[in-house]
This record gives sequence, C-alpha cells and structure tokens, in this order.
Amino acid sequence: MHKEVPAVLLLLGALALPAAAAGPKHGAKWVVGMSQCNLGEPWRVQMNADIRRAAEAHPELEVVYKDAQNDTLRQRSQIEEFIDADVDLLIVSPKEAAPLTPPVAAAYRRSIPVIVLDRKVLGDAYTQFIGADNQRIGRAAGEWAVGRLLALPQVRAGGRARIVELTGLMTSTPGQDRLAGFHAALRGQPVDIIFTADTQWLEPRAREEMESALAVNPRIDLVYAHNDPAAHGAYLAAKAAEREKDIVFVGIDGLPQEGQVYVRQGLLAASFEYPTGGREAIDSALRILRGEAVPRQLTLHSRVFTPANVAAGGEWLP
Ligand code: FRU
Repeated sequence: MHKEVPAVLLLLGALALPAAAAGPKHGAKWVVGMSQCNLGEPWRVQMNADIRRAAEAHPELEVVYKDAQNDTLRQRSQIEEFIDADVDLLIVSPKEAAPLTPPVAAAYRRSIPVIVLDRKVLGDAYTQFIGADNQRIGRAAGEWAVGRLLALPQVRAGGRARIVELTGLMTSTPGQDRLAGFHAALRGQPVDIIFTADTQWLEPRAREEMESALAVNPRIDLVYAHNDPAAHGAYLAAKAAEREKDIVFVGIDGLPQEGQVYVRQGLLAASFEYPTGGREAIDSALRILRGEAVPRQLTLHSRVFTPANVAAGGEWLP
C-alpha cells in the first residue's frame, strides 16, 4: 500500500540540504549569468556554443549571455548587472585578471556562486576555476619547438635558432603562463627569442607585428604564437613577404574549424588544443546549484595537432 511520508520528515530533508539547493531564486528555472569578455574570436564563439549546447539538455536552466566586446570596464559593469539581478550563479571568462577581480569577488561575497572560466582572476574569491594548464601547454610548445629547431642544419652545425614570440594579452593569465612555460622549455638550448610583441590575442595585430619582425630579421626559423589567430596573422605576413616556406609556425587553440584546418593545410606545423570548458562549466553549475561540492580547480586536458596526427584526432599531452 502507498504510504504517505510524514510532513516532519519532508521538512527535515529540506533542512538538511545545503543552502544552494533551496531552489531557484526567481521563478521555476535557475538563472545563470554568463559574462563573456568578447565574441570576436572563433574560440569564444565556440565557448558560448559549448555552453548553449550543454545547457539545452537541462530545461531547469536558463543562461543569460552578456558580451563585453573586449572592453574591461564594460565587463565590470555587466558583472555588476548580473549581481543586481541576483542571478543564481555566474560564469565569467574575464578579459584581464586584476581589474575583474573586484566584481567577481563582490558576486562571491553576495553568495552568488562564481565559475571562472579560461582566464583567471587574482586571489580565491570564486567557487571554481575551470581551464587547461597554460604553463604546461607553453612548455609542451617549447619542447616541441626545440625538437624541431635542433634538427635544422645551421643548428646542427653549431649555430643558434631564431624565434619570434607573439604573445597574447599580457595582463591576462593565459598570456603570462604560455610565455613562462615556453621560456622554461627553452632554457639552456641553442635558441634565441629575437623578437617579441603583445598581439592582445588579435590576428590583425599579429600580422602587423610580424611585418616588423620580418623587416628587421633576415632569418626567422620559428614563430611561436600564443593563439591560432596570431599564428595565422604571422603566416599571412610571411607569405606576403614570400618567406613563409622558411619559417615554422606554431599556435594554440586547436579548434576543429580553425587551428586543425591550418595544420591540415600545412600553414601551421603544430597547434596545441585549448579546450573551451563550456560543457564542464554547465556540469559544474548544475552540481553547485544542487548543493553538491565541487573542487576549487578543474584542470582540462590538451592535445597537440600536427600534420602527422591531425587526421587521427591529435595526441594528448603527457
Ligand atoms: C580568445 C582567446 C583564445 C585564447 C584564449 C585565452 O579570446 O584569445 O584564442 O586561447 O582567448 O584566454
């Protein structure tokens, strides 16, 4: 026979649940605010698409998107708007670390769980950080570059290889970490970084900077660009100068519709995958909203794509 659960037990059950599982604050759905720093690059469009696809499978979630259009102040105020709207949870992919730390911390202190995605903020006033290990990716790119450069005839004959490094925005943590990891791998090797510039992650800037690098350096052996748009911009500059065949181009992101295509076409000799974390962010958001504990940091794995392995899906980094 069907038995009624005594009301007092139902009440105890409800009380035993952590605060976040008390139910959506507004209406029937959980409202998740997604603060995206810009949608100018294919990688960020992919991140939002990954979030959208994962969220579609959960009708109990409503994701509200804001695009800061690569403007730090706009991203600050958009996060403040989400706080004022008292969203159930916030996902932030911040443009820069320092200036976006205060609004993220303000949300967290107002008991809004915050998932920081891809680029970091300072300190630890957030619920979870999700992203791949950029130092490790930079180091893997450095080790790959050294392996390639040591095989050059001029290096085998005792000379040194010449590298151009086109960095991402150096006030964002992936730029800092991709540089640090790469430089660590180069230490003690017969290679020199002969030119470096901050491309701010932008392809047109990378192209301009590469034009300057080509103008003053009659020999460049390899370009290490912190993302595939910058690697592509550098390639186009070298091609315009009819020097692209003398240079090895390495990038990061490895999107199927971008970096992997460049590798298949032979423009890039390697692209290191930087997963968007969009799906993982929705998985974590649901766990947090249901009152489950999540680790402070979720580190995503990365692959390298080269002409030899791209058809087979790349190779995981150790
Ligand atoms: C897109 C992007 C990617 C890069 C990531 C780093 O804005 O520049 O190309 O991998 O951001 O945060």
